[in-house]
Amino acid sequence: MIGVGVIGYGYWGPNLVRNFAEVPGARVAVVSDLRAPRLAEVQRRYPGVKTTADPGELINDPSVDAVVVATPVSTHFALAMGALRAGKHVLVEKPIAAAAEQAQRLIEEADARGKVLMVDHTFLYTGAVRKIHDLVHGPDFGDIYYYDSVRVNLGLFQHDVNVLWDLAVHDLSILDHVLPARPRAVSATGMRHVLGQPENIAYLTLFFDGRLIAHLHVNWLAPVKIRRTLIGGSKQMIVYDDLEPSEKIKVYDKGVTLNESNGGVYQLLVGYRAGDMYAPQVDTTEALRTELTHFVECIEGGRRPLSDGPSGLRIVQVLEAAARSIADRGRLVEIEQVRGSQ
Ligand SMILES: NC(=O)c1ccc[n+]([C@@H]2O[C@H](COP(=O)([O-])OP(=O)(O)OC[C@H]3O[C@@H](n4cnc5c(N)ncnc54)[C@H](O)[C@@H]3O)[C@@H](O)[C@H]2O)c1
Repeated sequence: MIGVGVIGYGYWGPNLVRNFAEVPGARVAVVSDLRAPRLAEVQRRYPGVKTTADPGELINDPSVDAVVVATPVSTHFALAMGALRAGKHVLVEKPIAAAAEQAQRLIEEADARGKVLMVDHTFLYTGAVRKIHDLVHGPDFGDIYYYDSVRVNLGLFQHDVNVLWDLAVHDLSILDHVLPARPRAVSATGMRHVLGQPENIAYLTLFFDGRLIAHLHVNWLAPVKIRRTLIGGSKQMIVYDDLEPSEKIKVYDKGVTLNESNGGVYQLLVGYRAGDMYAPQVDTTEALRTELTHFVECIEGGRRPLSDGPSGLRIVQVLEAAARSIADRGRLVEIEQVRGSQ
């Protein structure tokens, strides 16, 4: 039985604790939070779980084999590094760290110690994204042309990171998993509308080799919640609406064809193809349940997780490039390919 320690019982931590309680082969041994009322809540819901205001005490507790870091982004590195150095496996919330250099050091530490380092890229474990992966890599989709997403709502402002580091991480992790190519450069713009707070709205364009393009629109200051992505292929197109209760994915057999007119190749006519639409069945198991089961299996079997340290690093590299671009009003910024990110 793997003993789990969860650091951070704010908004997201309770989801991790609740799901670990359901995962075979694991049990939550200790929860840490700096705020006493949050620890009182843990004691009320889970009387058998130890609580402490000191994350160091959790990390060094002999009943803890794996540490989960669910605190603000600026604290991820120090807590995850402390846990790895204490010989623990680590699952860290997204994004893995506040800087690529920190992510790289976590990867090296985990590798040197033979410990599992996983990042919570939750969407990779949803039935919808697993279905999209299969569709895009299947025989009927054709070449991928674009990924175009809107992820907006009246959201919780994070104080230590801007909206890209909070919401765009989800799309970047989906892109990293689903697309066959890595982005080469980004252009980003964003704006702050609340005094003293980071950018609350941002637009990020990712450029790849060839004709693939991706655009992400994220906003914490929208009156309605939208979670909608269009993925265009040369033969099919996908609409992914994460707020749809049952038909989250719709596959459209639509596209264009180029037909030669009588004038030959110099006069190509665009023809439109509109076939059927279908909504494939997707697995509705809670993503965190699937993900935490995978984490436990990786620890037990010495395997590398799907959302491993290098995938976390690749996303932080894109976010850092986007931050430089925002500071320069959308200037095109190349993404560095750092050692350890492949
Ligand atoms: N995977 C997802 O879909 C998802 C969703 C929401 C948040 N998150 C991530 O989860 C993390 C936490 O976000 P949140 O919205 O829960 O934040 P939050 O502010 O609601 O909760 C963070 C908690 O951590 C505690 N904390 C801070 N520093 C600590 C320390 N050093 N030791 C112990 N406790 C400490 C705080 O007291 C607070 O209760 C962030 O990295 C965020 O990006 C992920």
